[in-house]
Amino acid sequence: MEIRYRRPRGTRDVMLEEMERWLWCEERWRAVLARYGFGEIRTPLIEPSDLFVRSVGEGTDIVDKEMYSFETKGGERLTLRPEATASVVRAYLENGLTRQPGTLKFYYMGPMFRYDRPQAGRYRQFHQVGVEAVGSPSPVLDAEVIRTALAVCESVGAENLLTQVNTIGCPDCRPAYVEKLRAWARERRGEFCATCQARMETNALRLFDCKEEGCRALMREFEPIDQAVCPACRDHHAAMLGALDGLGVNYEADPTLVRGLDYYTRTTFEISARQDTRQSALCGGGRYDGLIEQCGGPATPSVGFSIGVERLIQHLWPEPVDPQRSRQTEVDVLVVCLGDAAQSFALRHVDALRAAWRVEVDTTGRGAKAQMKGAVTRGARVVLIAGDDEVSTGTFQMKILATGVQNAVAAGSLADAVEEVLQP
Ligand code: HAM
Repeated sequence: MEIRYRRPRGTRDVMLEEMERWLWCEERWRAVLARYGFGEIRTPLIEPSDLFVRSVGEGTDIVDKEMYSFETKGGERLTLRPEATASVVRAYLENGLTRQPGTLKFYYMGPMFRYDRPQAGRYRQFHQVGVEAVGSPSPVLDAEVIRTALAVCESVGAENLLTQVNTIGCPDCRPAYVEKLRAWARERRGEFCATCQARMETNALRLFDCKEEGCRALMREFEPIDQAVCPACRDHHAAMLGALDGLGVNYEADPTLVRGLDYYTRTTFEISARQDTRQSALCGGGRYDGLIEQCGGPATPSVGFSIGVERLIQHLWPEPVDPQRSRQTEVDVLVVCLGDAAQSFALRHVDALRAAWRVEVDTTGRGAKAQMKGAVTRGARVVLIAGDDEVSTGTFQMKILATGVQNAVAAGSLADAVEEVLQP
């Protein structure tokens, strides 16, 4: 066989057993997010490019290198969303929700797109489950949002998580800090790697993000940002940490946690798996008090997070699923059909069973033995058998797999007979 088409690099197919895992997780996430007061929002996968350029920010990797942007036939500049916070903010403003009193709490699940170099745990199309709590400046909300992120991870059995928190100040205190940092870094320019040399000009705060040990050692010499923020930011941070303590959340303060998106103010945080080293961030988030105003709305302080679905699932099930070995969906009833006439006879009579049961009609035309074997692998408890004799008498042979008992059932009483076995 010659495979003519392959999926684009950095994308994945999710199916069969792995799909079951995803659905199992999604069900739990929906339940836990509802209990924390979040309602679902679904926004378009395409947005005006400018939305991300302005919010995520020029000078960030996402905007400078990773966006899937294109011009439509109508001349619009659109981008496949690289993240969803900006989309939620856009939807909040566009739908006139600024007049709603109180905090609006949204959650989303869905694909994001970033044209990055693919590697383990890093894809070009990946999925996030995330929340945005819009409309409260309270540090208690930051703590609640962090607790929510942990609850989402824990709801599917993730353990041994490391929660790191930081404050990166606000427009009142950060610019002066960044200027000081830039001036200091320029003086030591030659000691930094090439990426950092560029970053000190475009986005100096991200000097803290470098993985090179030489750069990290240098950065340890500079005053950490959590020590340099203004009193209001310091109070916010202290209150947030107090609220986390009150919730019993274990965390580590990490003054180098500056995050790769421009919209953050004050609180930033990440959750990672302690044992993984590469691509270990399962979740990232923080407060973005200025973003809504920047997008044309009233000043509306907000906070949120996003969890990488592939990474969390990989953390839970480190062994990948072999699609060749994974099972198809389970059924309650499997219908063995011997001959073409039996197939249409079966289809006509078993459709009503689907009001209550998962029913599969075997239309492969293979032998009775192979079809019976298929029934067992699909987990069926009842097998209905139809051949030419059954078609002419208007009956099915009904076999209960657990006991091996088999007898004839009139097509008209199929529902009752199956019900009696499956729900005694
Ligand atoms: P982010 O840190 O860019 O934040 O992404 C959040 C999470 O998405 C990461 O921790 C990671 O698990 C996953 N992720 C990111 N890029 C990839 C990739 N290429 N492949 C696989 N997984 C990936 C945000 O997106 C912000 N919108 C979070 C936020 C919400 N802040 C406030 N509200």
